[in-house]
Amino acid sequence: MQIRFADTRPQGDYALVVAVAGKDRSTLAPLGNSQAAVEAALDRQRFEGEAASVSEQFIAENGNVRRLLVIGTGSGEDRGEAAEKLGGTAASRLQTSGEKIAVIDLNGLGYDADTAARVGLGAALRSWRYDRYRTKLKDKQKPTLAEIVIVGGGTGAAERYEQRWAPVVEGVSLTRELVTEPANIIYPESFVERVRKSLDGTGVEIQVLDGAEMGKLGMGALLGVAQGSIRDARLLVLKWNGGAQGGQPTAFVGKGVTFDTGGISIKPAAGMEAMKWDMGGAGAVVGALKALALRKANASIVGVCGLVENMPGGNAQRPGDVVTTMSGQTVEVINTDAEGRLVLGDAITYVQRNFKPGTIIDLATLTGAILISLGHEWAGLFSNDEELAAKLQAAGAQSGDKLWRMPLAESFDRLIDSPIADMKNVGPREGGSITAAQFIQRFIENGVKWAHVDMAGKAWSDKASSTYEKGATGYGVRLLDQYVADVLER
Ligand code: BES
Ligand code: MN
Ligand code: ZN
Repeated sequence: MQIRFADTRPQGDYALVVAVAGKDRSTLAPLGNSQAAVEAALDRQRFEGEAASVSEQFIAENGNVRRLLVIGTGSGEDRGEAAEKLGGTAASRLQTSGEKIAVIDLNGLGYDADTAARVGLGAALRSWRYDRYRTKLKDKQKPTLAEIVIVGGGTGAAERYEQRWAPVVEGVSLTRELVTEPANIIYPESFVERVRKSLDGTGVEIQVLDGAEMGKLGMGALLGVAQGSIRDARLLVLKWNGGAQGGQPTAFVGKGVTFDTGGISIKPAAGMEAMKWDMGGAGAVVGALKALALRKANASIVGVCGLVENMPGGNAQRPGDVVTTMSGQTVEVINTDAEGRLVLGDAITYVQRNFKPGTIIDLATLTGAILISLGHEWAGLFSNDEELAAKLQAAGAQSGDKLWRMPLAESFDRLIDSPIADMKNVGPREGGSITAAQFIQRFIENGVKWAHVDMAGKAWSDKASSTYEKGATGYGVRLLDQYVADVLER
């Protein structure tokens, strides 16, 4: 989708989109002769201008028919959020409508440059789709909309979009692509190759470790998960050095289980196909680094993705196996389906030993239990640092990648003590997301600020929203991007 900003409406054929903020219809004045009829139609449709509500009409203009979308932006809403919904709603309604160009006229809304730019952000995000495997789309199902022109955004909107938001669209798109691809296409090695191509020329430095190299470093927990699969594991390390030299980097660590069968503790058949999304944390890390590099963020970030496929097999690890982690701590693997924490433990040790980060933020589709706690609306946030937690929550609220704080406590930590090793990889059923977080915390070294985002309910969605189609959401990219902007770049 091409997003363009202009001072005036272009000539010729296009669908016109105008916004109405709640019940205030003053923004319809430019419709001139058509205004009265449009308003009468809005009344008959019981249109009240709530955010993302739509009235589709056709108006006569100089003897031609023009498609008109009146889209609500609400009245009490957060403006930036309403602006994204406006762009996203226009894009989704017109994507396969037959229209090639949409003009979104912001005149009269009083948007500042950033708010106007976020209309473009919403439109671009909502336009993303992945048709690679559809060979039989009927013409009517194919996208027609190719260009969205945003008019009346004022000076600076175009620059703001290009500088701040177009990179985020690129990052989110990469994440969605990786998450959408099935596990026969994206496995550890091909994940790395896809990322390499996508990050080429961005200035992100890439290092990759294979299974043998991780073996030499003693990453027995990550490799224990990988050993049931014929696909070799990878540790993908991405560096963006945009900050002051010599400062401690911030680390983002992602769970990249390219498919999670559960291993020998195998999952039930129904719904198992969803486990291709189990690399959503790694996908978010990669997308965030792409966004940050494209917008030349003034921050030093290291991203680490632990990439494995969790399969049953003749060489798979068994329940009861004891593995030694890179940290030296030993783990009794009670349930091979609690594999994400095993991968993250070693990835976190690796990043601490090699990059000495002051702060680590890990993202993972870690537990089904977080879906029971928070459903599909919020991801769970666990942290050993009040300030870090507050800043991440603020970035979540600002970006729309929402976070709900969950507890950590000694009493939960005790539940993962093992009779034979230093710890076991599962606690009781109750509080399953918390004991998973406690497990990860055992790998955080002294003085390191750490936050863990359990995004099991957020990597994909069965319902479309105003900024994504159903499927991969790209959750986490905007969260990390906003955190960097708010905390590291000021
Ligand atoms: N990848 C799953 C968690 C998950 C579940 C993500 C549903 C998305 C949707 C994770 O590896 C897992 O299997 N967790 C187990 C842990 C249990 C064995 C302690 C779970 O949540 O059931
Ligand atoms: Mn699992
Ligand atoms: Zn998993």
